[in-house]
Amino acid sequence: MDAEDETRKLSERILRSERDSRYLRRDSDQRKVMEEVFDRSTLLSIEELIRGGRLKKLNGVVNSGKEARVYYGLSPREDPVAVKIYMMSSSDFKKRVGYIAGDRRFGKLPSNSREAIALWVRKEFKNLQLAAWAGIRVPRPLSFFKNIIIMEYIGEPPRPAPTFAEAEVDQEDCDWTLRTVQKLYKSAGLVHADLSEYNIFKHGSEQVLFDMGSAVLVSHPQAEEFLERDIRNMVRFFRKRGLAPGDAGAWLGKIVK
Ligand SMILES: Nc1ncnc2c1ncn2[C@@H]1O[C@H](COP(=O)(O)OP(=O)(O)OP(=O)(O)O)[C@@H](O)[C@H]1O
Ligand SMILES: [Mg+2]
Repeated sequence: MDAEDETRKLSERILRSERDSRYLRRDSDQRKVMEEVFDRSTLLSIEELIRGGRLKKLNGVVNSGKEARVYYGLSPREDPVAVKIYMMSSSDFKKRVGYIAGDRRFGKLPSNSREAIALWVRKEFKNLQLAAWAGIRVPRPLSFFKNIIIMEYIGEPPRPAPTFAEAEVDQEDCDWTLRTVQKLYKSAGLVHADLSEYNIFKHGSEQVLFDMGSAVLVSHPQAEEFLERDIRNMVRFFRKRGLAPGDAGAWLGKIVK
């Protein structure tokens, strides 16, 4: 079978799984999905991941955001994995440059959106690694290629675990969040920079921090500004849920001291 045939078969399979998992998705226009997510270069990248033994199978979609869609897949060892695919068509990448500029891990600024997306993916992967190495519970990063990241699946496939926004949260979740933001800052040297109740899973009794693409090194010129915003978001959320998170300023002081 030549490459052209393989690409066509893969796209048919994805369309079928999109149809089968329709109940899970907000976006109902299949052609749009194929154009926005599975453009030719993305299909080739998925094939490359499969051929290279980094992914066995791609199943249905789990969730979609503005810039990325997350799919449920299987690793070569048949473990469930989350496959996060950034849409090449997304034009929102310009606003991300500020989270890349100022990060001394990445030299030259990207000159087009394809480069920006690839850099963002690498940054998200590295951030997950740094966090994991510091002992912070995040989805285990498995591999990345171009606009795709493969990581540990959190939840019972095909459903993702609920986020704090969808779950009941208690004082322990509140304390965990403070401890985790502090550990992220002090041990991993990172600020999440997009922290909210939508980016923490509550999986059974376990909390899992995710969506680390925005995270910056503490040396980033806006690191403290982002940290303060993260803390305010979480304090506001826990207050709304009737918990006592304490004062945002006091949190900030405790973390950076
Ligand atoms: N490791 C994972 N395991 C299971 N589901 C996941 C995983 N990562 C992401 N998801 C699902 O995909 C959704 C979006 O993931 P994420 O927040 O990383 O992407 P995003 O681009 O920030 O999307 P959004 O703009 O909607 O926040 C999550 O809310 C969750 O439902
Ligand atoms: Mg998110």
